[in-house]
Amino acid sequence: MTKKIVAFSAGKTNGNTETYIKIALEEARKMGCDTELIRLNSCDLRPCKACLNMPCMAKGPAGCILKDDGAWLAEKFLESDGFLLGSPVWALGPAGVVSDFRDRIFGPKTDVAGNELYGEPEWMNGRTQYRPGALISVGGALTEN
Ligand SMILES: Cc1cc2nc3c(=O)[nH]c(=O)nc-3n(C[C@H](O)[C@H](O)[C@H](O)COP(=O)(O)O)c2cc1C
Repeated sequence: MTKKIVAFSAGKTNGNTETYIKIALEEARKMGCDTELIRLNSCDLRPCKACLNMPCMAKGPAGCILKDDGAWLAEKFLESDGFLLGSPVWALGPAGVVSDFRDRIFGPKTDVAGNELYGEPEWMNGRTQYRPGALISVGGALTEN
């Protein structure tokens, strides 16, 4: 079956991060993979509210109290066989949207280790799998430091 690679970019449209991601996706296509590029900055993705009862754990990302693109992004991740996450360096770290992406999409609800311990939740529909991931980080400081 054809493998699907999804790339999440936190860079500018047609910017440096996206250029590197596109090169990587082109290589993946040459290997027979389907690919998709998603621009996080074009998404409505708000910061996790850290609800005490964590509806996203019980009902899945669609149960999140935030009605934005978080559930759609989680579906894109769960439909993939592997992923790229690309970000420009901002103030020595990844751009802020990467943290929001991490908090909303990753963590215990998509953690294979958790599902191995407690069983896969119904909302995941048999999509627990190890997904190889690669990170692309692009800095551009004009000074030596
Ligand atoms: C707010 C901000 C902070 C940045 N901080 C750093 C930094 O700490 N180190 C660095 O090497 N580049 C830094 N840069 C430069 C970007 O990483 C660089 O221009 C990058 O190539 C932009 O990628 P993009 O075209 O995919 O958006 C910063 C840029 C911005 C806008």
